[in-house]
Amino acid sequence: MADSSVSGTGLLPGLREIDDVGRDTSRGASRTGLRGGYRRHLFDDAELDLRAWFIARASAAGLAVETDRNANLWAWWGAPGPNAVVTGSHLDSVPGGGAYDGPLGVVSALDAVAALRAAGFVPSRPFAVVVFAEEEGSRFGVACLGSRLMTGQLEPERARSLLDPEGVSLAEAGSRVGFDVANLGHDPEALARIGLFIELHVEQGRALIDLGAPVAVASSILAHGRWRLTFTGEADHAGTTLMQGRRDPVVAASRAIVALRDIAVSRAAQDARATVGRSSWASGGTNVIAAEASVWLDARAATDADTHALVAEIVEASTAAATLEGCELDVAEESWSGAVRFDVGLREGFAAALGDVPRLSTGAGHDAGVLAGVVPTAMLFVRNPTGISHAPEEFAELADTLAGVDALTSILRSLL
Ligand code: GLV
Ligand code: MN
Ligand code: MN
Repeated sequence: MADSSVSGTGLLPGLREIDDVGRDTSRGASRTGLRGGYRRHLFDDAELDLRAWFIARASAAGLAVETDRNANLWAWWGAPGPNAVVTGSHLDSVPGGGAYDGPLGVVSALDAVAALRAAGFVPSRPFAVVVFAEEEGSRFGVACLGSRLMTGQLEPERARSLLDPEGVSLAEAGSRVGFDVANLGHDPEALARIGLFIELHVEQGRALIDLGAPVAVASSILAHGRWRLTFTGEADHAGTTLMQGRRDPVVAASRAIVALRDIAVSRAAQDARATVGRSSWASGGTNVIAAEASVWLDARAATDADTHALVAEIVEASTAAATLEGCELDVAEESWSGAVRFDVGLREGFAAALGDVPRLSTGAGHDAGVLAGVVPTAMLFVRNPTGISHAPEEFAELADTLAGVDALTSILRSLL
């Protein structure tokens, strides 16, 4: 059992230890208040601190920590693989993200190890806690970077040349912190060690509060991907250029953004979602008609075909918006994740073993989704009473996080 006497700030001790790491102290766009939440992005100071924290924590628990070719961290209890049971999640965040998305899975895994050790348990098969790199894709744009590279779903050349918002490549960022990016790429040896992967994660919607359950097992993930829409127009003076005849890419992008929302709403039957949460205008001067407007589209739907159809309709509407404003449009796919159905045997076995807990589908992507195509994979969700995620309001009650640790511990015990 996890230590139910834990109290204090309402956080598991592991989360409390990293509570101050990477807090987002930047101002909101209006500059009237702090955005709050976390900024923890691959190879930045906060993420490096979290890596150091994980290595120290796992080493103190008697685990042997190694970093793989793709910057993923592995903490082994006993000798590495084959046929290992692996659990864990990620430590990076979205900009302004919450405290639980990612770290809860890592901390719960370490707590499960502590609980098993305290009970005198010794695994009879290899076991590791993993921390995947850049799950959110918030610095270099591609979601689940570490697991995608490991499974060969992202070419190392492309990965090395990915740029962050400041124009720093992944290759440069890696070498600045002493990480050798020459070895990035498909890692069959690392993959061959995994017999089964289970990721515990905070719930990212609002289902368990109404179902009255602290823990659920994942059933599926929507198909999803990221596309960059770049509208090109003509830079000019905001004061001297008549309104007629402008080629303003910001107007074209704005028309496209409204259209894509309406298109996703019209496709509610396919669980469609379309979002623009990141954009940039060049030049970005107040008194300048921009030359270029770049928006990142996040599109999701129930099936691969539904998502492709959604994106095709959005591209058509965006092309029409560009034409209307005398602009050009370029569309680039940045990342793609097909719909995931988690291993039914594991899902049902775990759900039953945990007392017939709910099975939940999710619209959020996960490293578990990337691994599900390669190894038997399962996920546990811990109730989030706010239903909010990727924002500071993301939350889980301490009692529920303890229930999550207990659930993970009992599953690991049954597997090991
Ligand atoms: C990650 O959380 C995603 O769903 O994009
Ligand atoms: Mn996330
Ligand atoms: Mn996550």
